[in-house]
Amino acid sequence: MCDQIKNALLEWHDEIVPVAINFNDSYFSIHDGLAETHYVFLEGNNLPNRFNDGFHVAELGFGTGLNLLACWRAWINSSQSTPLRFTSFEAFPMKLEDMKRSLKIWPELKKLSEIMLNQLEDGWEINTPTLQARIIIGDARKTVPNWTETANVWFLDGFSPAKNPELWEKGLMKSVANHTTVRGTFSTYTASGFVRRNLRDAGFNVERIKGFGPKRHMSIGIKA
Ligand SMILES: C[S@@+](CC[C@H](N)C(=O)[O-])C[C@H]1O[C@@H](n2cnc3c(N)ncnc32)[C@H](O)[C@@H]1O
Repeated sequence: MCDQIKNALLEWHDEIVPVAINFNDSYFSIHDGLAETHYVFLEGNNLPNRFNDGFHVAELGFGTGLNLLACWRAWINSSQSTPLRFTSFEAFPMKLEDMKRSLKIWPELKKLSEIMLNQLEDGWEINTPTLQARIIIGDARKTVPNWTETANVWFLDGFSPAKNPELWEKGLMKSVANHTTVRGTFSTYTASGFVRRNLRDAGFNVERIKGFGPKRHMSIGIKA
């Protein structure tokens, strides 16, 4: 029998930033979630410079879809000739109305969020001439090992490792590495010691760099 899908239970900080009640953590930075996505996930993986035909981004934690939208916009702006491939792994999907409410603070993403939300009404896929995306629902510890593709880049975006340790555990980081192309990379906003150790043990060369805004550090890495 299939596991039943449990939607995210939310409250809102300042009516703007969604917070997952079960994890007691927010989906994006109160300071500027879109700027943080650009810094941590795009610049952290040297995007859009590395984009090329067939490029595949994978993500742990789809959440509001903010990272997907920022990456998709960068792809469109870099005038690629094939669609961006994007696969995200999510255990507790947000209701579409909650995604819409979360994303409305960024008018620059309005057009793409509307396309994304319209398509998600019919299932967890987005297919347009510039994007082929799939959101794989379920616990990433089970779904990533069964995934049959590889990604050039991983956005590791679970809730904070202290509150959501299962999304950073050793076995899952190993599976992420196994599903990364040669010289593929990851980035994450955290520089937590056990996360860096798990990524190193999984086969990445891990580096700690300056974090976004007030955050001291974040991590990036390349498959060794
Ligand atoms: C910080 S949020 C992700 C934010 C997202 N990348 C965005 O652009 O809005 C962390 C996400 O990880 C998901 N998550 C937590 N534990 C998980 C698990 N075991 N497997 C898959 N997803 C999980 C949460 O439901 C949440 O959506």
